Amino acid sequence: MQIDPEQIKELLNRARVEVRKVIIGQEEVIDKALIAIFTGQHALIEGVPGVAKTLLVRTLAQVLGCDFNRIQFTPDLMPADITGTNVFNLQRNEFTLIPGPVFTTFLLADEINRAPAKTQSALLQAMQERRVSIDRETHVLSANFTVFATQNPVEYEGTYPLPEAQKDRFMLKISMGVPDRESELTLAKRMLGDGSPEATLAAGAVQAVISGDDLEKMRRAMDVITIREDLVAYVVDVVRATRTSETVLVGAGPRATQSLLLGSRANAVINGRDFVTPDDVKAMTEPVLGHRLVLRAEYEIEGVTVNEVIAKILEQVTVPR
Ligand SMILES: Nc1ncnc2c1ncn2[C@@H]1O[C@H](COP(=O)(O)OP(=O)(O)OP(=O)(O)O)[C@@H](O)[C@H]1O
Ligand SMILES: [Mg+2]
Repeated sequence: MQIDPEQIKELLNRARVEVRKVIIGQEEVIDKALIAIFTGQHALIEGVPGVAKTLLVRTLAQVLGCDFNRIQFTPDLMPADITGTNVFNLQRNEFTLIPGPVFTTFLLADEINRAPAKTQSALLQAMQERRVSIDRETHVLSANFTVFATQNPVEYEGTYPLPEAQKDRFMLKISMGVPDRESELTLAKRMLGDGSPEATLAAGAVQAVISGDDLEKMRRAMDVITIREDLVAYVVDVVRATRTSETVLVGAGPRATQSLLLGSRANAVINGRDFVTPDDVKAMTEPVLGHRLVLRAEYEIEGVTVNEVIAKILEQVTVPR
């Protein structure tokens, strides 16, 4: 069964309503997160402590109504704590798998930059291949296996920033800023009563309005939406421009092109359209490319930011009419 963009929009609105029961404000963040989920891609959520990164992902899991697991990354976390281990069963005289938390559909990898590289890469490999190898045996993960990883900005001590190659596995990075005054005031008032965001979630007030079946349908509905050839070229040109910009040391690779195409299409769909516009591409460029670029040290020292570089690239690349 096909669903049309109008139905998708309705489904989305239902999801938004549920998320907003817990999360105050952060509309753009919520939409970006839904885009990642609807395209079947993984997302990185970055923000200073206490902006509700963890709470958002827990709420999304509730809205999705699928299996959900959480891994709290710590410095002593081992790869097997993520993938699982074979344990010898004396009664049956054989090894049996104790599956790790990756055997789920929606996974929150909380504070991913608190674990060393070896552990991070166990997860990133599972994300990339949707399968894990344990003692030379390969186990296939859920086809809808989706990871949302949270990370505090790298200035914090005792963290292991994700290497660039690994960040590339995330379709987009969602930056969560501090709430504006009005949202913070609403939050402050809720915290005083028994309707605090945490309590609301714990009380089961959030309904599972999107089923695994809906997700499948949505992904298929997106696949039939074509992107005009000149817009595909625009996406390619924007990504390529990151490689020739003089401020950039490491530009975005071909995975970024794919992510920007998928993201732009999803952005059109969540806005109820069945065609992609240049504005969809522009809206998705920063979340898709931002975490993949490394600036040259001399520009970084001068205080040039990745977002400024991206804004400049968007000004320079010719927009199709
Ligand atoms: N926009 C918001 N909507 C609802 N609650 C919020 C919001 N911002 C902050 N909070 C409150 O802040 C608390 C902390 O949220 P959470 O633990 O998810 O933060 P975090 O970003 O994961 O922090 P850390 O980086 O320390 O793990 C929540 O319990 C919630 O009460
Ligand atoms: Mg957290």
